[in-house]
Amino acid sequence: MDKFVINGGKKLNGSVNVSGAKNATLALLPASLLANGISEFRNTPKLNDVFTMLKLLKQLGAGYTFENGIVTLDTTLVDNFTAPYEHVKKMRASVYVLGPLLARYGEARVSLPGGCAWGPRPVNLHLEGLKRLGAEINLEDGYIIAKSKRLNGGKINFDIPSVGATGNIMMAACLAKGETIINNAAMEPEITNLARYLISMGAKIEGLNSSILHIQGVDFLNPANIDTIPDRIEAGTLLIAGAITKGKVNLTNVDIRHMYSLCEKLEATGVKLSYNSNSVTIDATDSELNSVDVITGPFPGYPTDMQAQWIVYMSVCNGTATITDTIYRDRFTHVPELTRLGADITVKDNSAIVKGTNKLRGAKVMSTDLRASASLVLGGLAAEGTTEVLRIYHLDRGYEGLESKLGQLGASIERVAGSEY
Ligand code: EPZ
Repeated sequence: MDKFVINGGKKLNGSVNVSGAKNATLALLPASLLANGISEFRNTPKLNDVFTMLKLLKQLGAGYTFENGIVTLDTTLVDNFTAPYEHVKKMRASVYVLGPLLARYGEARVSLPGGCAWGPRPVNLHLEGLKRLGAEINLEDGYIIAKSKRLNGGKINFDIPSVGATGNIMMAACLAKGETIINNAAMEPEITNLARYLISMGAKIEGLNSSILHIQGVDFLNPANIDTIPDRIEAGTLLIAGAITKGKVNLTNVDIRHMYSLCEKLEATGVKLSYNSNSVTIDATDSELNSVDVITGPFPGYPTDMQAQWIVYMSVCNGTATITDTIYRDRFTHVPELTRLGADITVKDNSAIVKGTNKLRGAKVMSTDLRASASLVLGGLAAEGTTEVLRIYHLDRGYEGLESKLGQLGASIERVAGSEY
């Protein structure tokens, strides 16, 4: 298992390009199952989760190429409709094949995802939504067995604006007979990117960027090409790298419209931000960094995927900050590891209270999940001395070449392959 060795305390300085969005790609690739033929996905990030999804689609019978950031997916020979446990357990987003397989082939057998490092990850909203479209859904031996001759449009109201459920139901509704209305739909940019791909395939979807989607079903869809949006979570993580080291970092290939909540919070801590539509610069070189509270929420609120990164940033700011996660109440497995770096954090219910200390000190720390590992890297960048971040296979799921991007900005960070501890 690889680790990072980081010599901290260096101000980051320079410019890097942000990769395509993992959470857009993981919805776009399975959507190709709705049509017969070859679709092209540009600006696709080279991530372990992307390869996991491609391997799953291959197992269903699809063929793919992946070169220079472009994925082509050929669904002509898809003839298997089972997403097995070993895939879904590894990556919950595998459940995105459920809607397309059911809508296009009339059947799907998808393992239940189980839980993750910070608790259960239910799919009840996915299943209730598909039932509203007329699907027959049964659970057998840990698998979702879904069947339907032809889905029929329906009215669906989500108690929670679930990203995954919105994606799955939107994809299924595109081939249903009649109109589907999804009320309280997720408005994440990744869902809008998916909707744009579906529309380019011939789908009829209205209400993009809103919480009410109207989908008129069609009889078939055609393959299409799509540009993947920039990864707003990678961009946010790199901005905090600039802030926590009191450096000056410029990011290119961002969509600033996807980052307003984070940018507002960063400016409130005292850093200077300047941006245009596709680039952003953070300058913390002579800022007094002040603690700022955060409450996570559905887009356009502050993203839960940036919660761990905010906690470690607050650990070096002046004052006390409270970070509350309303999306995942238990997403705090990074806290015990951050305290090993000297952070002063108390978790109470679904909030972390962070008392800013003026210095973190390097230590060996263990990654527990994707965004937790990112927060440990950020802590290592700020800490005095050497930090070893273990089990960075978690990080490799969602960050493309993070160590080379940080190295480009002047960080001293090295990947040590195959080390146990
Ligand atoms: C997506 O997960 C993202 N993953 C997550 O990013 C992100 O944290 C999450 O959205 C919230 O923004 C991908 O896009 C691949 P949800 P998803 O359904 O779709 C509850 C990362 O780090 N819920 O919006 O699984 C659920 O328990 C990952 O990149 C139900 O109760 O999230 C949670 O509390 C981590 N029943 C809330 O809704 C359901 O059927 C939001 O979950 C579905 C969800």
